[in-house]
Order: sequence, then C-alpha cells, then structure tokens
Amino acid sequence: MERTLILFKPDCVQRRLVGRILARFEDKGFNLVAMKMMQVTPELARRHYAEHVDKPFYPSLEAFITGGPLIAAILEGPEAIRVVREMLGPTSGLKAPAGTIRGDFSSSRQMNLIHASDGPAAAEREIQLYFRSDEIVSSRPTLAPWLQAPDEQN
Ligand code: PPS
Repeated sequence: MERTLILFKPDCVQRRLVGRILARFEDKGFNLVAMKMMQVTPELARRHYAEHVDKPFYPSLEAFITGGPLIAAILEGPEAIRVVREMLGPTSGLKAPAGTIRGDFSSSRQMNLIHASDGPAAAEREIQLYFRSDEIVSSRPTLAPWLQAPDEQN
C-alpha cells in the first residue's frame, strides 16, 4: 500500500470539477484517507514547489496556486503514486492523451487541475507539508476483497 498527496488546484475548484475527478479515483479503488479545503499561502507554495522557485514560471505558478481555495487529499492504494500520476497524464493538458484527467479536462500547463506527488520521497514530504498525522484516518474498506485477489494484497 502506498499513499500519495493530491491537490485539487484552484482551477479545479472554480470549474466545479472536484466531484467528477474525485469519482475517478474512487472508481479506480483508491481509499481516501484525508481531505481538506484550504487557501495556500505564498510560504507554503514556496515550500511545496521548492525545486521550481528559481524558474521563470514560478511567480505565475505561485499567484495561481495561492489565488483561490484548493482541496488537499491523500489517496491510499497499491502503487498509488505511479497509478495516480498515470491517471493525470503529462503536465500539459494539450499533450496529455484523451482518457487521462488532464487530457480530458485541461488545455494548460499551469491550469492542469490536479497535482500529485511524483515519487515516494515527494509523497512523504508533501503529505507532511499539508497534513498533521491526526488528520489522516485510515481503515480497511469493506470492499477490499473485491478489488484485488488475496495473493495480490502484499
Ligand atoms: S518542469 O519545468 O518540467 O520541471 O516542470 P513540471 O515538472 O512539468 O511542472 C512542475 C509544476 O510547475 C507547473 N508548471 C508551470 N506553471 C506555470 N507555467 C509554466 N510554464 C509551467 N510549467 C510547469 C506545473 O503545472 C507543475 O505543477 P504540479 O502541481 O507539480 O502539477
């Protein structure tokens, strides 16, 4: 089991796409273990996007991510980090294939609706950035036996 951080970015909230996109993750079988609406501060944005702060696009990215409420969530499931990233598609909605979330709903590199951690180290760091441990509630879903065979559940 893995956990990954996702953000329903401000464009997703403003476009009223949160429910439809969350449904895709639920349909896939992911377990939602934490969720909250929040307004990202410039300080949190700089910590989250630390590797991008010196890039030319960073001021625009910070204005966007702090420019309206977003919803942070943690998804749990087998190979969650990779599978969620594949469900999103590439960064740019114009390059993302149809069938991916960005391919179906986005035409932008910045307004690409959802952020998801890009590896185990990022997932651990980002989960701690957005959630306290007492905000994470994990339980075994009753339908778990219908999502994977016993010998797949390691
Ligand atoms: S990079 O430059 O290849 O490392 O960037 P990438 O990993 O594709 O994207 C990192 C996040 O930065 C956002 N981004 C941009 N925002 C505004 N303008 C431009 N040109 C731009 N390029 C990348 C992109 O949406 C990524 O956000 P997250 O939240 O990680 O998906």
